[in-house]
Amino acid sequence: MVAVGDEPILATVEVLSGVDLLSGAGSIDVLRAVGLLLDPGIVGLDAGGRVLLANEPARRLLGLPLVEGSDFVAGEVDYRLIRLLDAARQSGQVEERAITLHDRDFNARAIALNGEVATVLMVRDETRVHHLERVRRDFVSNVSHELRTPITAVQLIAETLANGGLEDPAAAADFVRRIGQEASHMAQMVEELLELSTIESGLRPMASERVPIAGLMGSLDRLRPLAESKGVSLDVSVAPGTPDLTGDASHLGQVLRNLAHNAIKFTPSGGLISISAAPASAGHVVLRCRDTGVGITPADLPRIYERFWKADSSRQRDGEGSGLGLAIVRHVVEAHGGTVSVTSEPRRGTEFQVVLPAAVNV
Ligand SMILES: Nc1ncnc2c1ncn2[C@@H]1O[C@H](COP(=O)(O)OP(=O)(O)OP(=O)(O)O)[C@@H](O)[C@H]1O
Ligand SMILES: [Mg+2]
Repeated sequence: MVAVGDEPILATVEVLSGVDLLSGAGSIDVLRAVGLLLDPGIVGLDAGGRVLLANEPARRLLGLPLVEGSDFVAGEVDYRLIRLLDAARQSGQVEERAITLHDRDFNARAIALNGEVATVLMVRDETRVHHLERVRRDFVSNVSHELRTPITAVQLIAETLANGGLEDPAAAADFVRRIGQEASHMAQMVEELLELSTIESGLRPMASERVPIAGLMGSLDRLRPLAESKGVSLDVSVAPGTPDLTGDASHLGQVLRNLAHNAIKFTPSGGLISISAAPASAGHVVLRCRDTGVGITPADLPRIYERFWKADSSRQRDGEGSGLGLAIVRHVVEAHGGTVSVTSEPRRGTEFQVVLPAAVNV
């Protein structure tokens, strides 16, 4: 009888009121059972506005004790919920509002009934759904933006070549080289996107081989010329007793290089980047990548692993990366059963920590 699916509580209330259960004596028990079975917060009030029952999600989401027998309105209940209950009482229909409370997005619904339970309030936390919707919207607009820049460049160059540019062989050769550059930028982006969806789908399992820690850290040598040209020092160290890793050597190398590349890119000249490996608890290894760069604001931190996401300050520098590096880092690390975390202070620096399972010693 209890409905499950997208619209659980509404469906439930309809089914129950259809057989008039909620106006009968057993209504509180039925509602209590519904409250135990479903995720949304559910509060039942009597005609005098006292709390007859409230499930645990209701207390947690509203941040209120909702003691049974207490006066709901007299508690520190948001006025919008009180208005919603009034509206349901007056209209006799299900009333619904979207409200933001304590930085979270809620969908609240209320219904009035003829019985001991006079009104029922349902509150559902939709913050995550809204977040995912925004990620999807931004993904589409960001991928279009990232592709538009090289496509526009190629169009302009082709026009210039067609309108007499070919007559100057030296300039023409330069234009052709730039077309090649833009094309390889697009190709790399598409390749990274495909790579990401392959890892995410789990269709191609990661290799599970022994990855020597010294070799992995040594692969950072490739970035030394870049660090030198930017005037930042790159310090790579392996603590004594750090075990080897287990997994896919080339993907793990990519994780380290993406982190190191960001550290170099977002650290002004004169800065220091230290990348270290050390033993961590219970058969794990921790890789740390610390820089003294521009940092990431607290508001931006939750978004850095999204595909194509870049801080506004980095977005201004078109052509300097597409915002896929950290998405790859997180997917590869999670596919290895590891975790990645970050702490950052704007204008002071950033530290990424990657914890990965160590190879079992045989
Ligand atoms: N070490 C860091 N210091 C400051 N900001 C950083 C750092 N690492 C990442 N960021 C921020 O997070 C954004 C996303 O990083 P990510 O590596 O995913 O993309 P990207 O470096 O811009 O492009 P790509 O890695 O695809 O070349 C960056 O654009 C930057 O704004
Ligand atoms: Mg990057």
